[in-house]
Amino acid sequence: MNAKKRKERFETTYEVLTDIDQLLPEDRELLQRAGNALGLAYAPYSGFSVSAAIRLADGQILTGTNQENAAYGLCICAEQNVLSTAGSSHKDHSVVAMAITARSSVKKIDHPISPCGACRQSISEHEDRHDRPIRLILRGEEGEIYLFQSIKDLLPLSFSGKDLKQL
Ligand code: THU
Repeated sequence: MNAKKRKERFETTYEVLTDIDQLLPEDRELLQRAGNALGLAYAPYSGFSVSAAIRLADGQILTGTNQENAAYGLCICAEQNVLSTAGSSHKDHSVVAMAITARSSVKKIDHPISPCGACRQSISEHEDRHDRPIRLILRGEEGEIYLFQSIKDLLPLSFSGKDLKQL
């Protein structure tokens, strides 16, 4: 028996920006729009408000925030909210970029907040749906900005519709 095995490794590349002026003007606007919408979050239980703004291929900007529920399992993340709007009301327009920001009632968020695992999967589905990478711009209330060119960099070996059938 000549059983073989091998090791593989993932490598993720992302940019770390120290100033908002290092962003493309359209990404800066997107991040600002996400920040402006933070007040629309409904987060009475966690005190953690999240906002996601997306730019569609036609230039439109949509925003979504987290919406919590006393039955905690029903809480809906900001990213999934805005992607649901995009999918249900703008289904023919691909998503070009998403900016995510967050604010907490108990501490200053001074570092980028990454989308949770479920949101990564939802963003990945939208990339696959339109066969187009979604640029991600992550920032807390202040501090560094992380720039990813695709959610696949945050979700290697992602599960996709291709695994279910021939798309
Ligand atoms: N949350 C988001 O909106 N997006 C994420 O990617 C992570 C978590 C929300 C859900 C909940 O309302 C609060 O943040 C605390 O988990």
